[in-house]
Amino acid sequence: MKALILSGGRGTRLRPLTHTMAKQLVPVAGKPILGYVLDHIADAGIRNVGVIISPETGQEIKDYLGTGRRWGVRITYILQEEPLGLAHAVKTAQDFLGADDFVMYLGDNLLSYGVKQAVRRFRKERAEALIFLKEVDEPQRFGVAELGPGGDIRRLIEKPSSPPSNLALVGVYILSERIHEAISRIKPSRRGELEITDAIQELIEMGCTVKSEILEGWWLDTGKKDDLLQANTIVLDEYIKRSVAGRIDGKTQVVGRVDVTSGAVVRRSIIRGPVRIGRKSLIEDSFIGPYTSIGDGVTIRDSVIEHSVILNGASIEGIERLEDSLIGRGARVSRNDQRHKALRLMVGDDSTVEV
Ligand code: G1P
Repeated sequence: MKALILSGGRGTRLRPLTHTMAKQLVPVAGKPILGYVLDHIADAGIRNVGVIISPETGQEIKDYLGTGRRWGVRITYILQEEPLGLAHAVKTAQDFLGADDFVMYLGDNLLSYGVKQAVRRFRKERAEALIFLKEVDEPQRFGVAELGPGGDIRRLIEKPSSPPSNLALVGVYILSERIHEAISRIKPSRRGELEITDAIQELIEMGCTVKSEILEGWWLDTGKKDDLLQANTIVLDEYIKRSVAGRIDGKTQVVGRVDVTSGAVVRRSIIRGPVRIGRKSLIEDSFIGPYTSIGDGVTIRDSVIEHSVILNGASIEGIERLEDSLIGRGARVSRNDQRHKALRLMVGDDSTVEV
């Protein structure tokens, strides 16, 4: 069994962050999403891992994952020149995959628990594909499954305008080599991509066994700001343990599960967990509320922040209340003390500002 991790794409829905970074490297609770994906693959006992990269962000992905030694896996990088779809990525990786079964894992998907059990089931039951489904509120944003009365899959449709169910396809698939034949038989979709959903539908039409499993834990497709904030909330809830390695003065109150990494400095502030504060960050005269992740080298002064993700090197000063926000690397947010309250903004391409 091999793994194929998809880490290309343009990340248009997370702009402006993704103008300068790969969407799979956006941190959730201080760790890139892709890091959790590798954890799951390694935990399932898979050692041979292919990573699909794009010309735009490939180097960054390589810099983070390296040879894979940190996870005990061996990584082969495969360049997909253009984002022509998930099935196109599989086609690009055909030499690497050979005749093996593989777990295909989208590098921007986050699952509460890994794929170990599912890999075991796939091996035992011998299907051509095992897919995961999850009930969602907006099925039209995903691939959707229509099930028969016995729970068998009738049909899979990519982003249907009138979805036949609210069961979305999760971005993790276990596939056999038959998928290559199915991919060779499909045509690009309306969005001009070779869809993996269509390829699995083709498997069904070829008479292959396609099984499904309703995912019990949470699943997050981190493609948009609110999804990312939600992912941050859930991961902080599950993983953060109290650990105060940074420097905290006598006038600071640290309540609940707060991880202050070594090298961070907190003065005259209240930190109410779950919160994570990265290395070399400085917090002064502020309140950092629940569900906030602060990256490395961040400065926060005279501010109140809750339910937000602040990336490396950002600075926030004199902000009365910042909520549900995602602040990019090196961004500066500060108060304007002029008498006439004019806003002074330098907002990057594709940014969103709510005043
Ligand atoms: C892709 C798949 C879709 C699946 C989703 C899960 O969508 O095409 O079927 O439900 O991932 O994250 P995309 O992210 O390409 O819009």
